[in-house]
Amino acid sequence: MSFLTVGGVTKRFGGLSANDDISFEVARGEIVGLIGPNGAGKSTLFSCIAGYHPVTSGTIDFDGKRISGLPPEAICRRGVARTFQIARVFKEMSVLENVMVGAFLSTSSRGEAEAHARAVLGRVGLSGKAEAFARSLTVSEQKRVQLARALATRPKLLLLDEVMAGLTPQETAEAVALVRSFRGDGITMVIVEHVMEVVMPISDRVVVLDYGKKIAEGAPEEIVRNELVIKAYLGEKRGAKH
Ligand SMILES: Nc1ncnc2c1ncn2[C@@H]1O[C@H](COP(=O)(O)OP(=O)(O)OP(=O)(O)O)[C@@H](O)[C@H]1O
Ligand SMILES: [Mg+2]
Repeated sequence: MSFLTVGGVTKRFGGLSANDDISFEVARGEIVGLIGPNGAGKSTLFSCIAGYHPVTSGTIDFDGKRISGLPPEAICRRGVARTFQIARVFKEMSVLENVMVGAFLSTSSRGEAEAHARAVLGRVGLSGKAEAFARSLTVSEQKRVQLARALATRPKLLLLDEVMAGLTPQETAEAVALVRSFRGDGITMVIVEHVMEVVMPISDRVVVLDYGKKIAEGAPEEIVRNELVIKAYLGEKRGAKH
């Protein structure tokens, strides 16, 4: 049974259809890769699922209930957490406080929130930075802070938007192992990444967007051989920014 159902989602910004009639399903426990050239509409779709953008048309259902139309906080309470492509951290707060913001979603006790936040920081390898100001961290550490904040909400579905971009090979390997470990906690994931060597081995299934439309969906080994996908990526070379 479908856990997340994206049903004909269209999101327009003025005359531009950033998402154009996109439909796909994610099963509970699955890791789905969401790929496509720059500007294909991946981050916009995450914003629609998480409620940051109201959809222009279409529906989104999660865990048996309609979530499209709900505000972001209500969707987060239902168990959907996301990260942002450009890490959003509270720079004047400590790393621990940043993660406690997520933990407060499931508890109003400061002690419980702190204990949970510390546990999550340990999980992502940031225990040693708990008391540091978020602004003093490197970009890749800030990405881990927002990942920790998302995890601290105890999500059932995690939407990861380029959490591995800009990491060294060593950091990437660690991040892949970390993301894989979330599956053991029963977290379902949709992962946006540009690096094929990362997204293909980690994904059970891959959905491909181009110019706002879904152009392919299938097992990673089918997707890498798909003509439409190859064409979309060859076309990207003209205007690539990554
Ligand atoms: N808030 C907005 N207002 C207007 N246009 C937007 C807005 N957000 C995104 N767009 C446009 O929608 C299209 C899809 O953008 P989006 O950021 O979703 O792509 P993406 O697949 O995440 O790309 P990238 O791989 O570069 O992150 C682009 O043409 C972008 O310029
Ligand atoms: Mg994006």
